[in-house]
Amino acid sequence: MNSFSFFNNTRILFGEGQIAALREQVPAGARVLIVYGGGSIKKNGIFEQVTAALEGFDWLEFGGIEANPHFETCIEAVSLARRENIDFVLAVGGGSVIDASKFIAAAAMHEGDPWEIIATFGAAVKGALPVGCVLTLAATGSEMNPTSVITRRSTQDKLFFNSDHVRPLFSILDPRSTCSLPPRQVANGVVDSMVHVLEQYVTYPVNAKVQDRFAEGLLSTIIEEGPKALAEPDNVAVRANLMWSATMALNGLLATGVPGDWASHLIGQELTALYGLDHAQTLAIMLPAIWTYKLAQKQDKLVQYGQRVWHIEETEPQLIAELAIERTRHFFESMGVATRLSAYGLDETIIAQVIAKLEEHQFVQLGEHGDIAPQDTAKILRLAL
Ligand code: NZQ
Ligand code: ZN
Repeated sequence: MNSFSFFNNTRILFGEGQIAALREQVPAGARVLIVYGGGSIKKNGIFEQVTAALEGFDWLEFGGIEANPHFETCIEAVSLARRENIDFVLAVGGGSVIDASKFIAAAAMHEGDPWEIIATFGAAVKGALPVGCVLTLAATGSEMNPTSVITRRSTQDKLFFNSDHVRPLFSILDPRSTCSLPPRQVANGVVDSMVHVLEQYVTYPVNAKVQDRFAEGLLSTIIEEGPKALAEPDNVAVRANLMWSATMALNGLLATGVPGDWASHLIGQELTALYGLDHAQTLAIMLPAIWTYKLAQKQDKLVQYGQRVWHIEETEPQLIAELAIERTRHFFESMGVATRLSAYGLDETIIAQVIAKLEEHQFVQLGEHGDIAPQDTAKILRLAL
């Protein structure tokens, strides 16, 4: 196995009723900015729980963070945070709200053009206000990682940055908070967390047995519980298992010592920025197409995945790999997430535009071997039509 170090310092408070523990987590005397999205937290009781837990604290609110959060909106929150001498950012929402909060926290301390934070993939971040999270949607893993994905509307750039300065100090994971999610977001969360595992698992073997079996455990859990979350929306035990899987899928543990692919995510970001598809929709389209294109290189891990996760009993390796791709596609479709560009009204005319954006962002050596060049991406997009 490759040599590695693993470090994560987000405190996790997991379980029903944990929002009340917010009081002990926020530093005493902090002036808090509560950041949230389009208003779901004001309808499902989460806002009341948060503000009750913050009784005695000085707090302000900033709502209106969009799905795929906009740089332009975050900048308004940065002005507010500076004007009001905010010293703690509390994200209450899903990945978009958490990512926006991370950016706001870093930009509030950044001198110069805040876009530098993103343009340098986080290298320009020298400090940030502390961030805490109350998670309401299990999907991205942002609650326990140093990543933030921000969209600049004016230029249609959706890009990520990483910085340990924005890794949340704590995250509260109350699975009941996710019971109010609409089915589309439940399905998105299942697909996104599953693809996070798969991007770190379906690469090539490096004899990382712990990581492999951990990945297989998460995948089996997500596949078992995902459909139940749609069928039994109030089943908190199901939500709890999905929530924990999503957090574990992208907190750095699975990535430790193994190669990562991430081509689905990087091509998918362009699809969201250009055409407005949900993050998980882009992954459901790209993953099966990339696997089909790279079947020979990924065959060993696809076979392992097919046998251990889908219990495929065929014996011919290529057939097992093909069936593993088909099962995955079928699972996404069964969750209600379509896996073809055409299902979202997109056709081959998009290909040149997507390639141009990938080149502009210098994402021209994708995949675990860095061998997916723009001409390969064009062929992959054709497979995804
Ligand atoms: O805005 P509100 O009103 O809160 O509604 C949201 C939003 O419309 C709603 N929602 C969230 N919790 C709810 C709820 N509705 C009812 N009840 C609840 N409990 O769900 C909608 C989608 O929310 P969003 O936060 O956008 O979803 P998600 O958590 O899937 O986040 C997606 C964003 O995260 C990025 C994606 O690119 C995308 O921008 N990612 C972040 C990553 C990271 N930081 O590590 C990694 C991921 O790969 C991903 O790229
Ligand atoms: Zn993702």
